[in-house]
Amino acid sequence: MSQELFDQVYKKDKTEFIPSESLCDFYKTKVKTWLDRIQERGPLSILELGCGRGTLFENTALSEMEERLLLITGIDYSFWAIEKAKSRWRTMRPDFPNLNVQFFMKNVLDGPQLEKSYHLVVDSHLYHCLLDKNDQRKALKNVRASLKKDGIFVLETMVSHEGMRFQDPFFYEKKNSLLLKEDKWGALIAFRSIPSPLEVERSILEAGFSIEYFTIPPLLRVIPDEKRRESLDTDPQCLRIICRKT
Ligand SMILES: C[S@@+](CC[C@H](N)C(=O)[O-])C[C@H]1O[C@@H](n2cnc3c(N)ncnc32)[C@H](O)[C@@H]1O
Repeated sequence: MSQELFDQVYKKDKTEFIPSESLCDFYKTKVKTWLDRIQERGPLSILELGCGRGTLFENTALSEMEERLLLITGIDYSFWAIEKAKSRWRTMRPDFPNLNVQFFMKNVLDGPQLEKSYHLVVDSHLYHCLLDKNDQRKALKNVRASLKKDGIFVLETMVSHEGMRFQDPFFYEKKNSLLLKEDKWGALIAFRSIPSPLEVERSILEAGFSIEYFTIPPLLRVIPDEKRRESLDTDPQCLRIICRKT
């Protein structure tokens, strides 16, 4: 899905932003343990890729778990997502005293992020929106360059499995691991990338990370169709990885 399409969707979207439940769960149950191991005093700097209309840390339970000040930079390439994130944050700020949040309109493919070094980079469901293998490689390279020495990269992304199936208007193109969606004119548009877990693992290692945690929760599924609420066993699985810059 292109930048323009994301932008159109965000421009029209009137629903309230709610941080991804699945990412919050991953953070609370696993990622937090890794952050607690960082001995360095002072604030923690966090980069959130593909933040959309807000940051994950607007989940109260999640931000309250951390006693340190969190310096959060949310980036997204959609103008409307970032406008809405900024205006929402202006009203939310008083409720989150330990968060210092900034949002920027930025493409992850445009080099290391904001010339800063982060303790943690979280991919906020962006990786599966990168449809081209070269773009995926470039994004991982930029993530690595944005991290401090020993910094952590957290990824939650869709992966394929044997029982994965799709119904109209979605079609899976196995040779490129692409989920296609038929638009109103009948044209098939690449919508998401759903590689095998092995393929993601290989890309992460090739990009210069060591993998410290790798799991595919057996019952967890990602619903690729934003109009559906209930997940199906035939939906893509969800891969969760915590890795470290080597
Ligand atoms: C599936 S949405 C997730 C949004 C948000 N994290 C959430 O959970 O609601 C993926 C987000 O990544 C953004 N995105 C996709 N490709 C991007 C790129 N190359 N650079 C920056 N943002 C990108 C989209 O605009 C979109 O907001």
